[in-house]
Amino acid sequence: MAAALMRLAVAVTCALMLASASQGLEVGYYKKTCPRVEHIVRAEVKKFVYKNAGIGAGLIRLLFHDCFVQGCDGSVLLDPTPANPQPEKLSPPNFPSLRGFEVIDAAKDAVEKACPGTVSCADIVAFAARDAAYFLSRFYLKIDMPAGRLDGRVSNASEALDNLPPPFFNVTELVDTFAAKGLDTEDMVVLSGAHTVGRAHCSSFVPDRLAGPSDIDAGFASALRRRCPADPAPGNDPTVNQDLVTPNAFDNQYYKDVLAHKVLFTSDAALLTAPETAKMVRDNAYIPGWWEDKFKAAFVKMSRVEVKTGKQGEIRKNCRVVNHGHPHGHY
Ligand code: HEM
Ligand SMILES: *[C@@H]1O[C@H](CO)[C@@H](O)[C@H](O)[C@H]1NC(C)=O
Ligand SMILES: *[C@@H]1O[C@H](CO)[C@@H](O)[C@H](O)[C@H]1NC(C)=O
Repeated sequence: MAAALMRLAVAVTCALMLASASQGLEVGYYKKTCPRVEHIVRAEVKKFVYKNAGIGAGLIRLLFHDCFVQGCDGSVLLDPTPANPQPEKLSPPNFPSLRGFEVIDAAKDAVEKACPGTVSCADIVAFAARDAAYFLSRFYLKIDMPAGRLDGRVSNASEALDNLPPPFFNVTELVDTFAAKGLDTEDMVVLSGAHTVGRAHCSSFVPDRLAGPSDIDAGFASALRRRCPADPAPGNDPTVNQDLVTPNAFDNQYYKDVLAHKVLFTSDAALLTAPETAKMVRDNAYIPGWWEDKFKAAFVKMSRVEVKTGKQGEIRKNCRVVNHGHPHGHY
């Protein structure tokens, strides 16, 4: 009788533990299985970002583009194969602009040496994005990044097109795109602040911001016209910095640029077109520390979007290809 009760108690405890493990991610998830992982990833990110700050911007965007398509599951990392010739990374929102893949490869190699088969590519993307924000903010943004994401096996270019917001979206379309991922209006405004670093290709803003009427600052527009062809196309599509004032600093300058009408995209300018989002822009611009605190929380929230656990995913050996074989046998 006592033994039976004991077995029951153990079974219930195990079920509860499994349930809580599958419900969410944990800070320090690899503490027992790969204690140095976060240190290893940070060291790789540091090497690349100190050589080229733009790669840091790329890594921050990489997490966003991973998470909005099939959830944060490393699906954006998968290369084309004969069986899957059009993965996410080849879709227009990602190709040829998305960058930082070589950092993920280097981090994965280093992590595999220390703890083979233990750390997912999806978690490496999240750690690397967090670390890029840390270095570009000059160590100001310290984010505890939870982990435990699994890698997905599906990557489809048309899903990237359907789920990632294009730069010509207006404020309602932006709110809806983020709401579809469980992110609210404030998350959307706060995460848009990532456009305080990095670059954009002329093709991302010339057609709707320079060709016709727009609210863009006249002096800023003429500077952009000097850099960009009137009709940018592959092979003739230069890039410009997103933030002219502090181009490589991960700070709240973006919101001052929005207020000054010195931002590149319709989606950036759109934040002033609704009273609710305009108020958030002003708070982020004017209240010291406001944006930084909000950004930390929203970034972690984004990193939890549609995360895969249990049989939905795997720990990829190489971040660019799904593992061979079908681990769960029902494919
Ligand atoms: C709100 C909707 C958003 C739209 C419409 C949008 C659109 C874009 C576009 C068109 C580019 C330029 C790509 C190019 O031409 O090279 C870009 C760059 C960038 N985006 Fe966004 N984005 C949005 C939200 C975000 C979010 C949520 C993040 C991250 C938290 C982010 C981070 C970045 C970064 C860091 C860059 C610069 C990348 C680099 O230099 O390689 N964006 N975005
Ligand atoms: C990708 O998604 C589209 C639209 O959902 C679908 O029609 C297409 O068959 C998918 N491609 C692959 C290779 O699964
Ligand atoms: C945004 O665009 C959609 C689709 O074109 C349109 O229905 C909506 O009224 C627009 N909203 C605003 C605030 O302009």
